[in-house]
Amino acid sequence: MALKIALLGFGTVASGLPFLLEENGDKIRAAFGDDLEIAKILVRDDNEVNRLKENGHSYQFVTSIDDILNDPEIAIVVELMGRIEPAKTYILATLNAGKHVVTANKDLIALHGPEIQESAKAKGLAFYYEAAVAGGIPILRTLANSFTSDKIQRVLGVLNGTSNYMMTKMVDQGWTYEEALSKAQALGYAESDPTNDVEGIDAAYKVAILSQFAFGMTIAFENVSHQGISTITAEDVAVAQELGYVIKLVGRVEETASGILADVSPTFIPKKHPLASVNDVMNAVFVESIGIGQSMFYGPGAGQKPTATSVMADIIRIAHRLEDKTVGKAFNEFSRPTKLANKEDKCSHYYFAIETPDKTGQLLRIATIFNEQKISFRQVLQEKAQEGRARLVIITHMMNQLQLEAVQSQINQESDFKLLNAFKVLGE
Ligand code: NDP
Ligand code: HSE
Repeated sequence: MALKIALLGFGTVASGLPFLLEENGDKIRAAFGDDLEIAKILVRDDNEVNRLKENGHSYQFVTSIDDILNDPEIAIVVELMGRIEPAKTYILATLNAGKHVVTANKDLIALHGPEIQESAKAKGLAFYYEAAVAGGIPILRTLANSFTSDKIQRVLGVLNGTSNYMMTKMVDQGWTYEEALSKAQALGYAESDPTNDVEGIDAAYKVAILSQFAFGMTIAFENVSHQGISTITAEDVAVAQELGYVIKLVGRVEETASGILADVSPTFIPKKHPLASVNDVMNAVFVESIGIGQSMFYGPGAGQKPTATSVMADIIRIAHRLEDKTVGKAFNEFSRPTKLANKEDKCSHYYFAIETPDKTGQLLRIATIFNEQKISFRQVLQEKAQEGRARLVIITHMMNQLQLEAVQSQINQESDFKLLNAFKVLGE
């Protein structure tokens, strides 16, 4: 008998699943000896049912979750609606009904994952979400399985396909922000509210999930600091280019002596670093560990087929585990008490762009502010800004969060200085 699944939502990602079942039906059948059948699909209302039928879809569409929860033949429910509610309520109800759950919903996992995981564990059910981080890249299962005997020190990632696509098109093709965003939406990369993509929130959700798999620590979302691409200016991009860097939105999770740190921010990446060549919708997760050393996992971070492929991998994994009778095992079994890093241990090189009056003595004033915090410069550049103003660009040696805050506060207190931007800089 076929293994029956139900889908919640039939948007970009969900509507990619029938394609994979049709194209790869034989391979899927061979993998676990049976057919997979999409038995029911939850959509919003009858208008949506009619629209989908007119478009030639012959699935059994339903408009009430109860039609799925009360169907004893459905073994796996795949949530692809997105957002927090009603997704959370439906997932918990699905687990209560004794069905396994697959989702791609990083918002929900980052904010409520432990509660849902607990519920699944208590009932001996699977709760898998490979597609939630980096779309088509099978990074979560790789961290959970292949890094078991390794100790990860730092994970860096280009984790949002939409913002990376937009940055690439704006820098390489001269597209406007609006053109780049609307194309990313048309291609199915963006979230229903693209604010999450461009403001670093989506990447921060992924960073929070990565911390569980790489470090066994659950970081509350409010402890993942995040900044998006909207603050990056054309001048930042040009100066990065001149100094041998590219700017990308980078997520970081790192274990320091005092604990773990997690953040997302625009970052200067040296052109020689493997992350510098991750363009368009591509994502990459760069792992530094004591065993493997440096490894990078690269692939499409968004889009219908790549994401649907990761969702399907979870479904097939559950099918295998049902056969092996190991289905109650958690997706990620690595868990340690969470310890957050002190500000003294949150370190990076930094890029500062500061506007000053264009007259003698300004570099000395700036140097004094940095010197008081014992921060030394690695590169300094001065450019003309508007009439009577100069733009100073500084790349620092390593500095910590306390030093950063002190320098920012000091610059902001000088009425004739303007701190334009301060971004992290990755070491070579
Ligand atoms: P879409 O917006 O394209 O699809 C979601 C679908 O669910 C829409 O058709 C929506 O209908 C429907 N829906 C929402 N709420 C309900 C509800 N209460 N009842 C029934 N249907 C509902 O999103 P995506 O397919 O792009 O994303 C799905 C999930 O996958 C999200 O969690 C997203 O973050 C995640 N994801 C997406 C990726 C991508 O590349 N797109 C990559 C990785 C993860 P309506 O249009 O009427 O709101
Ligand atoms: N909107 C997300 C992105 C989808 O662009 O990366 C994949 O998680």
